[in-house]
Amino acid sequence: MDLMIGNSPPIRRIKDLINQVVDTDLNVLICGESGVGKELVARTLHERSHRRDHPLVKVNCAALPSELLESELFGYERGAFTGAVQPKPGKFELADKGTILLDEIGDMHISLQAKLLQVLQDSEFARVGGVRNIRVNTWVISATNHNLDEDVRKGRFREDFYYRINIIKIVVPPLRDRKEDIPYLLEHFIRKYRGMSKDGIIDISGKLEKVFAEYHWPGNVRELENYVRRLIVLKDPDLLEEEILVSMGQQMSEDRPVAEVWTPDESLINSVLDNCSQEMQIQFPSLKEIRKKSLARIEKMVIEEALRRTNGNRKQAAQLLQISYKALLYKIKDFGVEMPAGGSVDDSLELKLPKELESFV
Ligand SMILES: Nc1ncnc2c1ncn2[C@@H]1O[C@H](COP(=O)(O)OP(=O)(O)OP(=O)(O)O)[C@@H](O)[C@H]1O
Ligand SMILES: [Mg+2]
Repeated sequence: MDLMIGNSPPIRRIKDLINQVVDTDLNVLICGESGVGKELVARTLHERSHRRDHPLVKVNCAALPSELLESELFGYERGAFTGAVQPKPGKFELADKGTILLDEIGDMHISLQAKLLQVLQDSEFARVGGVRNIRVNTWVISATNHNLDEDVRKGRFREDFYYRINIIKIVVPPLRDRKEDIPYLLEHFIRKYRGMSKDGIIDISGKLEKVFAEYHWPGNVRELENYVRRLIVLKDPDLLEEEILVSMGQQMSEDRPVAEVWTPDESLINSVLDNCSQEMQIQFPSLKEIRKKSLARIEKMVIEEALRRTNGNRKQAAQLLQISYKALLYKIKDFGVEMPAGGSVDDSLELKLPKELESFV
């Protein structure tokens, strides 16, 4: 089983909490964004408990419509519905003496929440279409990436059911709020996936490590794990860095300053291309050369326009362009971008657009 890696204060607190609750049988609710490690916490709880030699049965409550989920959880008797030719035990029965993980519980239909609440209160249930009451001894762990407090407030989740499943709450924070775990996780995943590469050599260069530290990790630990797997196979830190920078840019677009629509006119682009081909008149240009040169010219032109519109504020220009601040500084230097005359070089995030654009903000 995978160990829970990390030494940040929240991860240390979670490990302590796990030790405190493993043998209490109290219902546990694990909350956190996608990919933070909720399932790993559930597996760790099970593996550390006296139930470890019995099954851990996982049910994805988001994957099935309500009626199917009900028969998945409680099983059914022969003839309970068309196609029920054989009786089938449900997940609760299969998890007897073990643990049931109700994953994505925030997506469970409200009518099924009422039924499950009854089952948790009485500790017994009947299969669908059956009359015999079944008693099981199952530890109930639930997980969700919803904010259930808010769902309860908005009437999307039953309050009584919430209190029943949420005796102990474990909140796993997003990776961006515990970046000190990243080096440990990197080391762990490299060790785990090293075998996928022929020579076992992986280079997480200093540059990539820095980008990893700055990145906001919307996909959390799972995203980091996937990056490491790809890096081991593709061995191309530059490509990975570029991808992360693009992804950072996309994130930034959410808080992007609003500016007037701008389409560079054709004559502007023509003059850029003219310039490029004049420079390369000595011999016929290679496609690669023309691509690189023309792209650089066009990028330069767009960057200069963005800087003009943000009055020389490079942070805001980066947001407009949807690239990282770091990538913009690099490009400004690389392309010899001219800063707008009279513009401020104040890089604060406060929006300072030229007067004529203020009405667009
Ligand atoms: N602290 C950690 N140490 C080692 N591996 C981790 C850690 N946290 C997460 N992982 C790994 O990251 C991946 C995603 O974790 P997991 O499936 O537990 O996330 P999740 O919160 O259940 O995600 P989802 O909401 O998408 O179901 C798994 O491969 C898991 O082993
Ligand atoms: Mg999960």
